[in-house]
Amino acid sequence: MIPAHAASVSSDTLRAIAAEVGTPVYVYDARAIDAGAARWTGCVADPARICFAAKANSNLAVLARLERHGIGLEVATPGELGRGLAAGFAAPRIVLGGVPKSDAAVEAGLRAGVGLLVLQSEREVEAALRLADGAAAGAVRADAAGADGADGPLQVGIRVRPGIRAGAHPSLETGREDAKFGFPPDGVEDAWRALAASRRIRPTTLAVHLGSGLPDAGPYERALDVILGLADRIGRDGPPVAEIDIGGGLGIAYDRADGDPEPADLVARVERRLAGSEMVARYEPGRSVVARAGVLLTRVLYRRERDGAPALVCDAGYTDFARYALYGGQHRVLPVGGREEGEPTVEVLGPTCESGDVLGTARRLHGVRADDLLAMRDAGAYGFVMASNYNSRPRPAEVLVDGDGWRVVRPRERLEDLWRHETVA
Ligand code: LLP
Repeated sequence: MIPAHAASVSSDTLRAIAAEVGTPVYVYDARAIDAGAARWTGCVADPARICFAAKANSNLAVLARLERHGIGLEVATPGELGRGLAAGFAAPRIVLGGVPKSDAAVEAGLRAGVGLLVLQSEREVEAALRLADGAAAGAVRADAAGADGADGPLQVGIRVRPGIRAGAHPSLETGREDAKFGFPPDGVEDAWRALAASRRIRPTTLAVHLGSGLPDAGPYERALDVILGLADRIGRDGPPVAEIDIGGGLGIAYDRADGDPEPADLVARVERRLAGSEMVARYEPGRSVVARAGVLLTRVLYRRERDGAPALVCDAGYTDFARYALYGGQHRVLPVGGREEGEPTVEVLGPTCESGDVLGTARRLHGVRADDLLAMRDAGAYGFVMASNYNSRPRPAEVLVDGDGWRVVRPRERLEDLWRHETVA
């Protein structure tokens, strides 16, 4: 059965969108986005503990739709922070997450008054202490208090690198011993103590993010073993750990229409482990909320034989959708209004000047001809956000379908947009 969090937009509507807006175009189904949020709000008692990872899809209309569910937002950069605020998320509901941050990024979080700032290196700890405690701190925190009405200390988390291989694609593993993110477990206590000594900062949270596209909750259980042991040690002679931020990472079954790992299963395991302690959990899902809710529509430019099998050269390329080129990520590619046919031997290629411009391989698309419309399924996460302008290709349009209606929520870039900020002399 097609899950409610998967886009279900009729072929007629997809054709109408392609005819009116052109291709390539990302199409998001608002009701599927709602269902994606509901996968998590249905099993986490306090929606503010679910912080959607904006990096998965940061279109303002998508973020605003998610905001209605009362959930929070995880942002990685001042750019994503700005988008979250513009989409209507209140700063205290935003986590500035644990990716490498410049001093300016730490300061942007302080100034905005984010609800949680996750630090992941000594340098960031030092910047947070300096900016929150130093001469400029009054201004920084006063701004923050003014912005959201809250005063009191800035809540801070420490990202831990638990030294776990989670079984993700090597590029998407982030909790391994040799990863660039976070503190090793034995480096956390000093940072925690230093932060606790500041009047303006309150360390509350240990954060992890193990990797992305994980098929089950197993790696999270192993991470909790490490994190809970650490929390126990920290609590003995410092302020206790109040919260475990478990990160994102839950995958979806890209090769079929259903059968995704369930957030409820992960949440039940985490809550069971925390039961009896004072600690609460925070979650940062991205893909599991919106991946299924989006499709990328592309038109076939022509067919060509390659190694004895047909290849379809399309008007979308890896500049529009990078997941195959970067990770070998195979998505279902389906003919709009047609069906899959024949042996799984057809390649789906993009139009740019690189032979690695591949959208998918081994597809059953033998009946597809030039000018036919294809739907790259489950493209709602890490799709448009990773698009580039290589070959000076304007990035695609984005459309939001809501029931019987639809609207463009980001127009296709125009050629002039490509050089708007450049000068000749
Ligand atoms: N929290 C943190 C700190 C993260 O770094 C990420 C993803 C998430 C949450 C959300 O993870 P999710 O639930 O979406 O797996 N471009 C890649 C994915 C990179 C994810 C990076 N961090 C892809 O297309 O698969």
